[in-house]
Amino acid sequence: MDQIIIRGGNRLSGRVPISGAKNAALTLLPCALLSDQPLTLRNLPRLADVEGFGHLLNELGVSTKLERGRAEEPGRVITLNAADIASTVAPYEMVRKMRASIVVLGPLLARAGEATVSLPGGCAIGNRPIDFHLKALEALGATIELAAGYVKATAPKGGLVGGRVVLPFPSVGATENALMAAALAKGESVIENAAREPEIIDLCHCLIAMGSMIDGIGSDRIAIQGRSALNGAEYRVMPDRIEAGSYACAAAITGGELTLVGARAADLHAVIESFAEAGVAITETNEGLDVKANGKLRPLTISTAPYPAFPTDMQAQFMAMLCLADGASVLTETIFENRYMHVPELGRMGADIQVRGRTAVVRGVDRLVGAEVMATDLRASMSLVLAGLAAEGETRVHRVYHLDRGYERLEEKLSAVGADIERRSEG
Ligand code: UD1
Repeated sequence: MDQIIIRGGNRLSGRVPISGAKNAALTLLPCALLSDQPLTLRNLPRLADVEGFGHLLNELGVSTKLERGRAEEPGRVITLNAADIASTVAPYEMVRKMRASIVVLGPLLARAGEATVSLPGGCAIGNRPIDFHLKALEALGATIELAAGYVKATAPKGGLVGGRVVLPFPSVGATENALMAAALAKGESVIENAAREPEIIDLCHCLIAMGSMIDGIGSDRIAIQGRSALNGAEYRVMPDRIEAGSYACAAAITGGELTLVGARAADLHAVIESFAEAGVAITETNEGLDVKANGKLRPLTISTAPYPAFPTDMQAQFMAMLCLADGASVLTETIFENRYMHVPELGRMGADIQVRGRTAVVRGVDRLVGAEVMATDLRASMSLVLAGLAAEGETRVHRVYHLDRGYERLEEKLSAVGADIERRSEG
């Protein structure tokens, strides 16, 4: 297992290329299941979760061919071909490692008439049930059975039928499953209280490239006309807004200046507003986003909520940054029930944070001090890296595999802009 070692205190400056979005890739890859013709995705990030998802699709009979991107667009290119579905079972061994695997359920069911997917179970940041996914598929005519840790969905004889899906909460994954299933259902489907995240918009545009007709893109009411078959397509994965926001935090916490090449302001409104309130200026240019910090940070009051509000996936990174703000900040996590695992680790570096229920009070301290810390989940791990960049002395982050799930070439990108960071094998 690897660890990351950071000697903090360097002010970051320079250009950071933003990779293709992990969460968009994880919903675009299963679109391949919807067609017997090839789907090519450009700007694919090199991440453990993306590789894992590719292996799951291979298991289902989808062939994958990976190529390097062009010089002007460095992300990789993957061509997926699901001419024949070889299996309709997503096994425990694969789903266990990656909860996002649940989004094969909708497209597999729609294309093959049945799908059996291991129940993902809980994860470090919370219970994460899939009841909304299942209700959505039932609204399209599916029969759901749960047995031996698996969910089996079966379509009616003639295939799924368009229907009205009303989500009790704008779940990202449930919206994705519903959309992909509805793309091959007979007639129109309407998804109400749909998630509005930019990754859902990316999914809609990919489905349109494959021949779907969709109204209400980006709104909480999406209408999609089902087709009997979808065609192949080529589509570019959107830039990773959470990676961009994380590097903006790296600029902020080190009082630095970074250009986030390829990042889009439109995906990050709430985050950019919070940065502005904290005293960090972000401006959009032709190239991406320019982030300028002056070394002083004002405290914030932030509550996470579904898009377009402040994303839960940025909460841990903001918390690290606010540890060094001039005053007390209040963070409230409303999406996941156990998403403060970075708090005790930040505490070991000298942070002053008190958690009561869903709310964390972060009192700014004058300095953080390097320590050995344990990564617990993806974004929590990034918060420790950020704290390490600003801390005095050396920080060692253990269990780096969490970071590899979602940050492409992290050490390389950070050292290129002046961080003293390296990866070492723990063995
Ligand atoms: C996606 C993102 C994740 C992000 C999250 C919220 C991917 C691969 N992951 O996760 O990075 O943090 O959105 O923006 O895109 N819920 C239920 N029942 C369900 C489904 C969800 O109760 O059937 C609850 C969850 O437990 C959670 C909330 O709804 O409390 C939001 O979950 P959801 O939006 O579904 O998140 P994911 O799609 O799992």
